[in-house]
Amino acid sequence: MIEARGVVKRFGPRAVLRGIDLRIESGETLVIIGGSGCGKSTFLKCVIGLHSPTEGSVVVDGADVAKLKTEAEVADYRRRFGYLFQEGALFDSLTVAENISFGLRYLTDVPPAKHRRIASDCLALVGLKDVEDFKPAELSGGMKKRVALARAIAAQPSYILYDEPTTGLDPIMSDVINDLILDLQRQLKVTAIVVTHDMKSAYKVGTRIAMFHDGVVQDHGTPDHFKTTKNPYVRQFVDGLSKGPIQMRIKEFEGVEA
Ligand SMILES: Nc1ncnc2c1ncn2[C@@H]1O[C@H](COP(=O)(O)OP(=O)(O)OP(=O)(O)O)[C@@H](O)[C@H]1O
Ligand SMILES: [Mg+2]
Repeated sequence: MIEARGVVKRFGPRAVLRGIDLRIESGETLVIIGGSGCGKSTFLKCVIGLHSPTEGSVVVDGADVAKLKTEAEVADYRRRFGYLFQEGALFDSLTVAENISFGLRYLTDVPPAKHRRIASDCLALVGLKDVEDFKPAELSGGMKKRVALARAIAAQPSYILYDEPTTGLDPIMSDVINDLILDLQRQLKVTAIVVTHDMKSAYKVGTRIAMFHDGVVQDHGTPDHFKTTKNPYVRQFVDGLSKGPIQMRIKEFEGVEA
């Protein structure tokens, strides 16, 4: 179980997260939605331990992530997680197979002789074949995204953090990825957080959805709740309207009269 308790994250004087309280139960997929720049990726980085919360804590399976001390403790923690970076973050100088097996090499005891086979199997799961020896520069944007996804699942983690898994993919491939997220949850009991702007994906894969706004959880509930709620922040975001409370806040922020 992942529990965020009053997570505040400041960068200099600017508080991006102002008190996030969330529980992600084992086996569930929590979807996070919210405007660009509201701190969704920052939150995922607090969960994996790439950022330490300025205040509050993230507790995973009873342990406070910011209090992991030794290299062994950090490695043991990271081993339990798969992380799909928003920008893919593939290593340019490594081949696709080497990128996918990177975590296997450094975080697991899986023998190197098995790495290529695992890479090919993970590529097949994301709808790719015969690209093992390509370098990232030889891939399209959507292919890079899928290779990054293959890397996130390669070590069979218990937790997967997906930062915009379907962005940049065509609608059919997006649905293949949605099905993969659901399969991992149902068959392997993976606990997941999915950050997305793609509401079709959010409704399909989410056990629950949380909407971030102004550094806090503005609303959370089931996909059905998000389809029907009258919360004006949720309605504006989900229905994609330029007018509403979120626009007014942006204008306030910019010092322009609403
Ligand atoms: N390492 C950092 N140093 C300083 N500011 C940062 C850092 N990382 C993120 N920020 C700032 O925090 C804010 C939130 O960024 P974040 O990437 O979490 O947004 P997001 O909700 O994921 O947006 P998007 O939907 O566009 O991906 C932004 O204003 C960003 O400039
Ligand atoms: Mg982001």
